[in-house]
Amino acid sequence: MFGKRTDENRTTPGLPPAGQPAAPPAALSAPAAAIPDLPMPGGGGFGAQSQRAAAPAPSPAQAASIAQQQAKKSESGAAQRKSENYYDIKSTIFNALIDAIDLTQLGQLDRDAARDEIRDIVNEIITLKDVVMSIAEQEDLLEDICNDVLGYGPLEPLLARDDIADIMVNGANTTFIEVGGKMQKTGVRFRDNAQLLNICQRIVSQIGRRVDEASPICDARLMDGSRVNVIVPPLAIDGPTLTIRKFKKDRLKLPDLVKFGSITPEGATILEIIGRVRCNVLISGGTGSGKTTLLNCLTGYIDHDERVITCEDAAELQLQQPHVVRLETRPPNLEGEGEINMRDLVKNCLRMRPERIIVGEVRGPEAFDLLQAMNTGHDGSMGTLHANSPREGISRLESMITMGGFSLPSKTIKEMICGSIDVIVQASRLRDGSRRITHITEVVGMEGDVIITQDLFVYEIVGEDANGKIIGRHRSTGIARPHFWDRARYYNEERRLADALEKAESRNEMD
Ligand SMILES: Nc1ncnc2c1ncn2[C@@H]1O[C@H](COP(=O)(O)OP(=O)(O)OP(=O)(O)O)[C@@H](O)[C@H]1O
Ligand SMILES: [Mg+2]
Repeated sequence: MFGKRTDENRTTPGLPPAGQPAAPPAALSAPAAAIPDLPMPGGGGFGAQSQRAAAPAPSPAQAASIAQQQAKKSESGAAQRKSENYYDIKSTIFNALIDAIDLTQLGQLDRDAARDEIRDIVNEIITLKDVVMSIAEQEDLLEDICNDVLGYGPLEPLLARDDIADIMVNGANTTFIEVGGKMQKTGVRFRDNAQLLNICQRIVSQIGRRVDEASPICDARLMDGSRVNVIVPPLAIDGPTLTIRKFKKDRLKLPDLVKFGSITPEGATILEIIGRVRCNVLISGGTGSGKTTLLNCLTGYIDHDERVITCEDAAELQLQQPHVVRLETRPPNLEGEGEINMRDLVKNCLRMRPERIIVGEVRGPEAFDLLQAMNTGHDGSMGTLHANSPREGISRLESMITMGGFSLPSKTIKEMICGSIDVIVQASRLRDGSRRITHITEVVGMEGDVIITQDLFVYEIVGEDANGKIIGRHRSTGIARPHFWDRARYYNEERRLADALEKAESRNEMD
């Protein structure tokens, strides 16, 4: 046992002696800095996640069953809103715990020992305070308090689930998640905005940054790779707002996308060939439509002896090749200095002898450098951009270059796009939450001032079933010889390409 408890303070300051009524909730609410910034056990890693990693690894079967139990428990936990009374009791016990425990020493323990210590003290407080709770409620309370003290508080159960794509916290009382393409409101809530801000602070401090009034926006990454954005008051009017794109431990591959109906097997084969034969590819799509996932899938077909350089704002890609250099942009510091933007990275890439350059998201003048790279012997380069159709993607590229201050005539920019991009793959998140690859489109040339494209595959919406699920089909457009045919032949993929196109044609007829 350790801590700053002594026999005198065993009465847990702040708490009425046993047997007396609890103080009214308002008087018990935690002070603003209720969760102190604990030194993270395990070297300040990803809070609970990294600490869990330090524990002896369970067998895969055990791990699966634990994960399942956790998911079940947290699913019901997330869905159900706990009573006000629960939060009042938690607040009382939490305050008493903070008074009774030495946080610096607690921070030096490993997670299990720290939990045991917290468990002992919480049990004592419950007894002293005569709180009436079932064993299950006590366990819940203990879990919540441990998460508050040792991890990311109420976020922990959500972070532990692998079925969640996004976690969106809009102030202390409102948290949404995206599961299976659908937005759901959860019962998760924070004690107050101060607790939420504190958790945001913990997250961004892992990458040596902070968020406050002076610097109210921050992008960060959890140690497990999840992408985080924090924006706090005064910019976020209703309290700190946290958006987490959860990292998928089992990254999706093209066969998974086929299983989900995002693409047909033939379409997937064609994408595989496009990745392998070093077409320059642009992946276009709306927010959360699956662009990064698709880019990840396509990079899976890059040969293992190629030198690949990736440039991202927050590294999300998971390339499996042995020869990959990962670069990440850097925001300016508080004095507004030291920024390294995407353009700097892409330009630097060119001096690093890359064979392929992969840009996580093209959103500015780096478009020019990427196109130049594609044009100058770095075939097979890829990038994503925000657009709702392949044609819109082309216009976006044009305007990014125009707005980047390159004084080039519009026709020259178009010619550059035409000479660089081979294929545009469009990802979409449909209104029923499903994600589909809606176009595989080739850029084939120019006619006058217009860039000509041809679709190889399109997704057509046919209707909607009784449950609001969209019914649609992928249709081949009947192109038997795509523009990249010669490339496919050069890489000995001609036969496979012809077969896939033929099968896609016959699937059209079957449908
Ligand atoms: N075809 C798919 N089927 C089901 N889930 C998918 C599919 N593609 C992507 N997802 C899931 O959707 C979520 C968003 O995917 P992703 O990060 O690739 O989107 P994005 O378009 O890059 O988003 P952003 O615009 O925010 O960068 C992830 O959780 C991912 O696992
Ligand atoms: Mg993305």
